Amino acid sequence: MLETVSSEVSDVNNNRLLAISDLAIEYKSTRGNLRAIDGANLIIEKNKLIAVVGESGCGKSTLALAIIGLLAIPPAKIQSGKIEYKSVNLVALNENERRKYRGTEIAMVFQEPLTSLNPVYKIGDQIAEAIVVREERSIPSKGSSEVMQKVYSTRAPAIPPRFRMPGRSLTKLFRSEILDALRIVRIADPEQVIEEYPFELSGGMVQRVMIAMALVQKPALLIADEPTTALDVTTQAQVLKLMKELMDEVDASILLVTHDLAVASQVADDIVVMYAGDIVEEANVYDFFSEPLHPYSKGLLSCVPSGSKNKALLKPIPGTVPDLSMMPSGCKYATRCPYVMNICRSRKPGPIEAKPNHRVACFLYGQ
Ligand SMILES: Nc1ncnc2c1ncn2[C@@H]1O[C@H](COP(=O)(O)OP(=O)(O)O)[C@@H](O)[C@H]1O
Ligand SMILES: [Mg+2]
Repeated sequence: MLETVSSEVSDVNNNRLLAISDLAIEYKSTRGNLRAIDGANLIIEKNKLIAVVGESGCGKSTLALAIIGLLAIPPAKIQSGKIEYKSVNLVALNENERRKYRGTEIAMVFQEPLTSLNPVYKIGDQIAEAIVVREERSIPSKGSSEVMQKVYSTRAPAIPPRFRMPGRSLTKLFRSEILDALRIVRIADPEQVIEEYPFELSGGMVQRVMIAMALVQKPALLIADEPTTALDVTTQAQVLKLMKELMDEVDASILLVTHDLAVASQVADDIVVMYAGDIVEEANVYDFFSEPLHPYSKGLLSCVPSGSKNKALLKPIPGTVPDLSMMPSGCKYATRCPYVMNICRSRKPGPIEAKPNHRVACFLYGQ
């Protein structure tokens, strides 16, 4: 009996890729420390696509940057909590140790893709470099060292690794994989695109290139922060579906940050709703869209156009996400909530399991 229980527990842990617990993040500003993530808890299992939704300013990008360890770029600090990736607490690692995870185990497609491509290298060379990073990571595994031998032989040995530049010969070496990656993200003329520089491409094309670069690295967790906003709606869904299929093949997970609930409904396994730095609802995609529980989620859904909905009936949520320096002390949604009660103004609701596997942080469901 005991054995069964412990094997169940280890099954659960084996399936777990990332576990965030009690995470609090603050931005330093002239107005003092501003809390952008206020005690988040989240588990990402292997081979799942989690969509994080919420209006602009709710902390989605901050959460994403914290996971990939790039919070040092904005003036932000993790105040408390853990981000455990395959049971290693990333928050406790130093920058050198963290770097080993970035781009290889955990990759990210950014909201502003142009800033993450190097303007002076051709697209093909940049994708080649991403493939090299992957091959370097997998050196101990069988067969990969042969590839690395070829990589090393194409590079001038005198150049120390940190000064290495993407090279034409690498692009030649990995040419068919690079072309395949570009075709997968539906770039119509990959032969031409590998010879182009980032500034020669449209915003949508750059986003596709970024997705291709992330995919060739075969990370176990891909974080995609509004990765398809520059694409039209149909292409958005296509690219995301492709991304999901490819990640399925390698049993990887995706954390998709999007403000677009229609896109989330088409590709996600689970939905996580963020409001003003809090995770306010979490459920699988069917439960969420058939019965959203949090008043904020209901508000978000009433703004989504759908085939059956008359455009005149779409109701934007009145008001805006509160500024970090003026957060209400109780439930942060209280100022906009049509169901607000007295208790909501004085106490902050914690997440409760209102239905099986459906968590919500709202006093309407008891506490
Ligand atoms: N560099 C920064 N300095 C101060 N506040 C910031 C900074 N970046 C983001 N914020 C604030 O943190 C909150 C969450 O922002 P963000 O994570 O970008 O939200 P989202 O991605 O959901 O739009 C917002 O209130 C935003 O104003
Ligand atoms: Mg954002």
